[in-house]
Amino acid sequence: MSAPTEPVALSAALASFTERWSPRIVTAVNDYDVRVAKVEGEHLWHVHDHTDEFFLVLDGELHIALREAAGERTVVLPRGSVFTVPRGTEHKPYAPVPTEILLLEPTGTSTVGDRHDEVPDHVDVTTGHALR
Ligand code: NI
Repeated sequence: MSAPTEPVALSAALASFTERWSPRIVTAVNDYDVRVAKVEGEHLWHVHDHTDEFFLVLDGELHIALREAAGERTVVLPRGSVFTVPRGTEHKPYAPVPTEILLLEPTGTSTVGDRHDEVPDHVDVTTGHALR
């Protein structure tokens, strides 16, 4: 999408939907989407082969399990924290409480990556929805 020509209040954007694990695109930067999502519980193991994925925790707490060459570990992002999952790294986000996140990734990037485990019913497979 092209960037909106007026400012977007993230609080209003987040108040406009209730679905979990179903990102909304709030603006764009060059070839990247800026997305916000409400998350709670488990996502699924997946990998983006061609792009890093940037996370900013707006509220709540996000855990991201990572499968790295040295083994598996989990990073914990409290509110206000940022983290970038490197391309090619299998990861599985998890939120122990209702959490709001902002994501930065190339337009067209799927929420479940290029390879993934079976998708549970509560996870939306999408490249991001437009705000209404
Ligand atoms: Ni991902």
